[in-house]
Amino acid sequence: MTYMNRFRRPVLALVAGALLCTGVAAQPASAQGQSGSSGPTLRQFADRADLRIGTAVDMAALAEDRTYRRTVGREFDSVTAENVMKWESVEPRRGVHDWKAADDLVRHARAHGQVVRGHTLVWHSQLPGWLTAGVADGSIGPAELRGILRKHITTEVKRYKGRIQQWDVVNEVFEEDGSLRNSLWLRELGPSYIEDAFRWAHAADPKAKLFLNDYNVEGVNPKSTAYYELAKRLRAEGVPVHGFGAQGHLAIQYGFPGQVAENLARFEALGMRTAFTEVDVRMILPTDSDKLATQASYFRRLLDACLGARSCTSFTVWGFTDRYSWVPGVFAGQGAATPMDEEYGRKAAYGALREGLAEGRPDGRQSGVGSGVRQ
Ligand code: G3I
Repeated sequence: MTYMNRFRRPVLALVAGALLCTGVAAQPASAQGQSGSSGPTLRQFADRADLRIGTAVDMAALAEDRTYRRTVGREFDSVTAENVMKWESVEPRRGVHDWKAADDLVRHARAHGQVVRGHTLVWHSQLPGWLTAGVADGSIGPAELRGILRKHITTEVKRYKGRIQQWDVVNEVFEEDGSLRNSLWLRELGPSYIEDAFRWAHAADPKAKLFLNDYNVEGVNPKSTAYYELAKRLRAEGVPVHGFGAQGHLAIQYGFPGQVAENLARFEALGMRTAFTEVDVRMILPTDSDKLATQASYFRRLLDACLGARSCTSFTVWGFTDRYSWVPGVFAGQGAATPMDEEYGRKAAYGALREGLAEGRPDGRQSGVGSGVRQ
């Protein structure tokens, strides 16, 4: 969540709550121009298309913003913890766990018939300070670090055994050129940390589907090819790597990635599931109708690639409203990256997703009829 929004949230929540009482916000302004009434939701169309449509969830917004909370339950049948399942959040002090927010999300999902994507077990970012400091000062050596990693994965995956459909086991492990990212994990443990992580996660929850996950891997390029070669090798060695997640953080000023269908197809040929796990399409502000139309086309093209791949089990947006998007806080002067505006008005991107889901899969696979990848 961006910090300018954090200050706005309490006020907006009050305003939103008041408007909801009058029914005015029932159809946010920019949605009132939408054709027809609310009609079927994204999740209703997705269900017919044998696809999970998901969103990353900001737990503070879920707790404090009623419109946000209602939209999550109405529009999506898969949720991903935007931050609260990350290591810095669940184990802020060594051996001292804080599961409350993660438990809240899993409980909310269960109450709303949603599956949960676990995000993320091993990453170079958002690690707890005690871990990074211990490695930096040498007080945690490689052998101890490997034990700490195994314990972290085992503890978190076991806690949610049977309640997490897919885990992003390792996140962002390659550089753009296809070389392994020079992370704390690679430096201290060597490349075997990746297969260790998958084996430990599988031992902790044999039913969870275990994913590789990264950005800038939507099309065919050196980075996604590195993932393809890694997955091919690990699966040949019997390592339980089940899925490949392309995050889908796009920007209209950089164009749309090439060969997306071909990329998904090669992972599918390995017998893997695929997914778009963090889709948003940012732009240089201010918005205008042309930029919003281009954004809508990018969302739709990624969704069509997913619907066209039997292996593509889920399509998750990294937040559904610009009100809580991470983008403005990271990319100065950019934003408007999600399918709804800051007042929950449905942008052209929302309509593009809805139309794509309504059209369904080109092979006509329906829920419960196809390979049942939605489970
Ligand atoms: O929790 C602290 C809070 O205590 C503190 O007061 C506040 C101000 O310093 O920071 C809060 O932590 C923030 C955290 O989000 C939780 O809100 C961090 O500063 C902030 O950097 C962090 O940003 C997250 C970012 O990952 C970190 O790299 C974004 O919300 C999140 O959307 C983003 O998500 C990642 C995926 O996990 C992996 N793929 C890329 C994607 C975008 O970067």
